[in-house]
Amino acid sequence: MEGPDTVARAILEPVQNTDGALAARLGYWQRFREICDRYGVLLVSDEVICAFGRLGDWFGCDRFGYQPNMIVFTKSVTSGYAPLGGIIVSDRLAAPFLGDSRTFLHGLTFEGHPVSCAVASANVELMEREDLLGNVRHIESVFAEFMARSGELRIVGQVSGYGYFRIAELVKDKHTKTTFTDEECARMLRGALSPALYKAGLFCCAGDRADPVVVLSPPLTCGADELNFIGDTPVEVFTDVWNDVQSK
Ligand SMILES: Cc1ncc(COP(=O)(O)O)c(C=O)c1O
Repeated sequence: MEGPDTVARAILEPVQNTDGALAARLGYWQRFREICDRYGVLLVSDEVICAFGRLGDWFGCDRFGYQPNMIVFTKSVTSGYAPLGGIIVSDRLAAPFLGDSRTFLHGLTFEGHPVSCAVASANVELMEREDLLGNVRHIESVFAEFMARSGELRIVGQVSGYGYFRIAELVKDKHTKTTFTDEECARMLRGALSPALYKAGLFCCAGDRADPVVVLSPPLTCGADELNFIGDTPVEVFTDVWNDVQSK
């Protein structure tokens, strides 16, 4: 429907969050960047979920090696302790608004709120001091191994994700990848799985906005011991829930 003459910008997430933790194939971003450059389309990296360490880098675009024209971020800039969002733009995009009398005429009531900004500064400082990004990068392979073990279970169709942002997609039939009906999702995800994971000590998000998935996004401070627990618990719980659902 659209062509380069009607598209001003494209907004993408480094790892797509709503339908799971879906990552693009190798080379996708570089190709996307090339196409944007060819047609003068701005590339906006929606880093609301992926920034500030979730994937082991400050921004998801660092992890995948592409250069956006704009970055939008929120949530994790303060680790959620205060509400704050922001936009980072390239020099070229900022230039028209720089200079003596020029301004970006857009007023938000709480823009540049000093308390939220102070929380963000303290948060980023702490992340640097405790090398939380380094922690994620060093230990993510342990997490990936645990997830791979979950991936072998009959109820798990696939596992995906990066850094400390991973999902297990649940399926009725591993080989055909047949998914659960709405009624089965309600019974299994909300009725059985979420409470069982919670009871086992794991507070995580089981969702079915698209296919049913369990999202595991642990605190960036987690070390190998915690990941051990986080990785083992779904294996046990998924197996119990699967046996339970089969017996009904
Ligand atoms: C990828 C992504 N972009 C944007 C948003 C919206 O963020 P906000 O609620 O701060 O407007 C969300 C919210 O979860 C999100 O996950």
